[in-house]
Amino acid sequence: MKKGLIASTVFALTLGLAFAGNTIASDKGAADMVLQATVDPASKPKPAVFPHAAHQEKFACADCHHSKDADGNKVAYVEGQKIESCESCHNMAAGMEKKISTYKMAAHSLCVTCHKATDKALGSCKVCHK
Ligand code: HEC
Ligand code: HEC
Ligand code: HEC
Ligand code: HEC
Repeated sequence: MKKGLIASTVFALTLGLAFAGNTIASDKGAADMVLQATVDPASKPKPAVFPHAAHQEKFACADCHHSKDADGNKVAYVEGQKIESCESCHNMAAGMEKKISTYKMAAHSLCVTCHKATDKALGSCKVCHK
């Protein structure tokens, strides 16, 4: 009886962990991505490779992710925040200031700025546009 209880407790714990593991894994998004504008399609597409998981190991979610409120003001990242594509907010129709007015501009402001500050070679186009 006691043995059975322990066994089922262990089973329940394992199951709980498996579910927690799944939740965390899906919330973190894809490990590797290819980023490409689709709202403002480019005449010459330049997909950018993005090792998401490798960046998650080094940086906080809030270093890249944020949201906006009903008035269009930026809202800082909080755990569990719904994460939309950058371009759903940073597109030409949204009328944001020039340096973040498109996917390219917003991505370059974030990605290229950090890359250049880290190491000049990391700022080269072909690091992201293969
Ligand atoms: C650190 C990564 C990174 C570097 C370095 C980088 N880009 Fe980008 N670039 C992006 C991302 C991300 C996008 C947005 C996704 C997309 O549309 O390709 C983008 C978009 C673009 C676009 C828009 C094309 C399109 O498909 O919408 C052009 C053009 C572009 N980059 C040119 C350059 C050039 C030229 C350089 C070098 C001077 C450069 N990029 C360096 C990440 C980078
Ligand atoms: C260095 C920047 C950066 C960091 C750090 C980062 N992300 Fe992302 N994340 C991105 C970009 C860029 C996208 C793609 C957005 C798009 O599609 O336009 C993305 C997409 C996502 C998505 C959408 C699902 C998907 O696969 O497209 C989720 C969920 C997500 N990130 C969760 C997280 C979580 C949770 C963390 C922290 C543990 C995190 N990210 C850290 C840049 C980052
Ligand atoms: C839900 C809407 C939304 C999404 C999704 C979004 N942004 Fe933003 N972003 C904003 C708003 C709003 C601001 C503030 C604009 C202003 O102050 O004029 C902003 C500001 C920025 C800035 C300026 C610096 C700063 O932090 O204030 C950069 C760079 C930026 N976003 C890049 C990105 C990138 C890259 C992604 C995708 C990983 C992304 N944004 C996703 C709404 C969004
Ligand atoms: C906060 C700083 C930071 C931001 C933001 C950032 N990166 Fe990076 N990224 C790095 C650092 C640091 C490395 C080098 C990692 C290493 O060599 O171990 C790197 C490496 C990479 C690499 C691999 C380079 C290689 O060949 O090894 C790619 C591709 C890349 N980043 C693309 C992007 C894109 C696209 C974005 C924006 C969506 C982005 N990064 C945003 C800091 C950043």
